[in-house]
Amino acid sequence: MKMRTILVLNPKGGCGKSTLATNIASYFSINGKKVTLADCDPQGSSQDWLNVRPDNQSRISCAVLDKGSLQVPEDTEVLIMDTPAGVSDERLSKFLSRAQTMVMPVIASPIDIRAAERFIHELFSLKGSINNKIKIATVANRVREDTLIAAKLEYYLDHLKLPNGKQLPFMTMLRSSQNYIHAADRGLSIFELAPSKTYYDREQWEPLLRWLDSSKSLPKN
Ligand SMILES: Nc1ncnc2c1ncn2[C@@H]1O[C@H](COP(=O)(O)OP(=O)(O)OP(=O)(O)O)[C@@H](O)[C@H]1O
Ligand SMILES: [Mg+2]
Repeated sequence: MKMRTILVLNPKGGCGKSTLATNIASYFSINGKKVTLADCDPQGSSQDWLNVRPDNQSRISCAVLDKGSLQVPEDTEVLIMDTPAGVSDERLSKFLSRAQTMVMPVIASPIDIRAAERFIHELFSLKGSINNKIKIATVANRVREDTLIAAKLEYYLDHLKLPNGKQLPFMTMLRSSQNYIHAADRGLSIFELAPSKTYYDREQWEPLLRWLDSSKSLPKN
């Protein structure tokens, strides 16, 4: 069976790729999977996170790009790929060809949503019928509590469309929370912080995790 491969991608800087990648890696690792976190970004945020990860937490392997190719431990069950901002078309095609699932964090602001939609359209023109080969979903990230209102959410949902006019699957909204910053600092995920402090964040993650655990996030063949 093909290695379960999840790509976290959005060319926009600072939208939460490394945050999602590290938290997803931790989720699968806590659940007993052999996880490799591939840091494809020379900035090395995921690698930094792994470097400070405490020994008493579930072990996550590290993979980095070496001359454009990724050396992944053979026993890896779940591969999470954290990617850089502003990735070139050539590299983009390489990342996409490897992945079954793509998670795209988007800052829930009109400018970022428009940029995300434009990028999705570019993606389709680059790879043709990409949707048969890779499942894509978006996550609204760093949502301020005061924008968690129906009108803004509707705006978000209405504005991410695939070139065929269909809605791009939208999984969940993650609030802006210091929990992510505290966790990242310590090589942890929000799933490894006190449940009482992260209750709300864990709830927000549920739809994304259910999707990632289901065959809905896998291509048909
Ligand atoms: N939901 C959130 N709440 C609070 N802070 C967040 C949240 N998501 C991300 N951040 C913080 O925002 C900053 C950018 O996030 P992150 O590094 O994950 O983005 P990125 O897309 O990987 O950036 P880059 O494009 O530079 O690789 C980090 O300091 C991170 O801790
Ligand atoms: Mg990053």
